[in-house]
Amino acid sequence: MKLNIAVLAGDGIGPEVTAQSIKVLKAIALEFDHSFNFKYAPVGAVAIDETGDPLPEATLELCKNSDALLFGAIGDPKYDNDPSAKVRPEQGLLALRKSLGLFANIRPVKAYDALLSKSPLKKDIIKGTDISIYRELTGGIYFGKKELSEDGNTASDLCEYSRNEIERIAHLAFKAAQSRRKKLTLIDKANVLESSRLWRKVVKEVATNYKDIELDFLFVDNAAMQMILNPKQFDVILTENMFGDIISDEASVIGGSIGLLASASVGDKYAMFEPIHGSYPQATNKGIANPIASILSAAMLLDHFDLNDEADLIRTAVDKSLALHITTPDLNTKYDNITTTKVGDFIADFISNPTDSNHNFSNIHLGQSTII
Ligand code: IPM
Ligand code: MG
Repeated sequence: MKLNIAVLAGDGIGPEVTAQSIKVLKAIALEFDHSFNFKYAPVGAVAIDETGDPLPEATLELCKNSDALLFGAIGDPKYDNDPSAKVRPEQGLLALRKSLGLFANIRPVKAYDALLSKSPLKKDIIKGTDISIYRELTGGIYFGKKELSEDGNTASDLCEYSRNEIERIAHLAFKAAQSRRKKLTLIDKANVLESSRLWRKVVKEVATNYKDIELDFLFVDNAAMQMILNPKQFDVILTENMFGDIISDEASVIGGSIGLLASASVGDKYAMFEPIHGSYPQATNKGIANPIASILSAAMLLDHFDLNDEADLIRTAVDKSLALHITTPDLNTKYDNITTTKVGDFIADFISNPTDSNHNFSNIHLGQSTII
């Protein structure tokens, strides 16, 4: 298959983790005889520095002319503590989601057996957790009308949803549940919010098309508690934009590191793949950023194009790296010298050479990866 992939590596650790997923995708292309063509464009704080705009026109143009987008991370501390900044890196990501119509954000959360001891939660609570979060991504309070009174003392953000916005992601979530454990939980705040009551009504209606799916509802405050008490109860979670942002970060601790969580953002026409972690500025260029979330996002990209064997091979390679402790320091209790690049090298080597991972393993430790 021939794919044109736009690479928007962005800020902080974005470029270094994205470089690893590109290395892995190149290994896949070689092994399976595909042709992946990568084109790079700036987004976020680096784009503001270069052009004054967090999503320059040329970047958006490249995305629109590509088959898929690989995204790194966005954000820079110099904007975080300046509430008066008019231009912010995050606007680039939000504008990208909106302009490309990426309305469904899919965030898988899994407890890896090799990492159970790394989670702050007890092993028997998290073992076997496997959740797929469907977060609505282009509506709600993120994109509602924002107002600040003239005297600067009153502010508001409107949370608005329409039937169509709820229906289209609900269908995707129900379909996902059909290929999983057939359970869907809608997370909302229907005891307080009118918009949540619309979500419940519409999702109940959509459910009549999916009689094989067990549908239940949780208020978001209770859901936040249930995520820690008993995460195994969840299969597919469906929720609106803001609740999905919060619940998915909470769920990320189950796996032991936010550095493991991948995501796909899809719409009718475009699709973008990105780690859910942020730009982690303190770690930039130190070689300690975990590239696995980005690499697993590349696997989701391949799944999107039905290249499932290829995606599975990446996931097998990631499992192997976790089992052999070829991981960055956020996860590693055994070795202290495994860098971002070494993890990427190991996973790419494994893909080129799946039967010889012991050989790879010693090469990685000697710094002699076969991938140049
Ligand atoms: C995410 C991030 C973004 C969001 C920020 C960077 C705007 O937290 O992708 O979860 O809030 O959606
Ligand atoms: Mg977030």
